Amino acid sequence: MLATLGAGCLLGAEAAPRPAAPAAFEPGKVWLDTQGNPIRSHAGGILEREGVYYWYGQERAGRPSGVTVYRSRDLLNWEPLGLALPREVLPEEARERGVCERPKVLWNAKTRRYVMWMHLDNRQYTYAMAGVAVSEKPEGPFAFLEAFRPVRFDFGYPENDRCRQKELGNTFRDMNLFLDDDGQAYVFYASEDNRTMYIVRLNEAFTRPAEPLVQGRTWARILVDQYREAPAPFKYRNKYYLITSGCTGWNPNAADLSVANSLFGPWTSRGNPCVGPERHLTFRAQSTFVLPAPGKPPGCFIFMADRWEPKRLEQSTHVWLPFVVREDTLLLEFRERWDFSIYDALRGGQ
Ligand code: DGJ
Repeated sequence: MLATLGAGCLLGAEAAPRPAAPAAFEPGKVWLDTQGNPIRSHAGGILEREGVYYWYGQERAGRPSGVTVYRSRDLLNWEPLGLALPREVLPEEARERGVCERPKVLWNAKTRRYVMWMHLDNRQYTYAMAGVAVSEKPEGPFAFLEAFRPVRFDFGYPENDRCRQKELGNTFRDMNLFLDDDGQAYVFYASEDNRTMYIVRLNEAFTRPAEPLVQGRTWARILVDQYREAPAPFKYRNKYYLITSGCTGWNPNAADLSVANSLFGPWTSRGNPCVGPERHLTFRAQSTFVLPAPGKPPGCFIFMADRWEPKRLEQSTHVWLPFVVREDTLLLEFRERWDFSIYDALRGGQ
């Protein structure tokens, strides 16, 4: 995965060099897949299914983009499986000059389908729709179902709203999915033109909001008027955690950690969980997902983020960092290189 080609470089043109099997994560470096190509999976998320990890993400950091999928058993060696969702199946607004961002996938045990949600937008970011697609296989191809805005709620619609929220529903942008222990699924997303985060419970098939929509019971406005995006939710010991970024386009900013006893809130900010150099810039990265660390005790997680290169988005890299939850909070520290043995040290003293 890492950009070290090792002895394979000496083989000459006829033999494609195989990258050395990576033994550790190197945040911010170029990560190579098992074919030796840079991993193209941005603003993505990981689905674990029967011991196999599927990493879905934006094919290109910039537009236009389909959804890529990679497969791994150890989170270090990633086999490219191609496009889970090609750009061609998207609605015209997103397909032509728009974007398909932050794809996430859940497995629905009742329908036995993989369900993908994504943020679709046009070039001006005024389309701001959820997209939903389903597949019988984790690698796809996913069939696109529809694009829509899940909630219509009068938060005091602005005059001359460029996103036409009164008419079309409230905007849907940076998003994530969350599956609770009871089998209920939720979507988190930046709404109200990014002013306020929404959380919406999904229906049994995970393809739409649970109906009827009742504020406080099936959906809620959270982090109200705070302009947060890039939501990365997770749960530990009956508490819910949500890492978000600020709203500064492709430029990095300070992360926030919020904690709640109920998904619909109240959510309490614990401030920026990052420590050390570049803590106010989230180490020049933006959150996308939190994954329980495989084979480690509960409370051990991986923070996944993207280090965007705003002028060369295709060269953006991945920043994954280990952390443990301790006393309802966590610290994120940048590490040049780490492997799973680090969790013993992080848990020390617990
Ligand atoms: C920041 C968001 O987090 C990204 O997903 C993307 O929408 C960029 N803004 C676009 O500027």
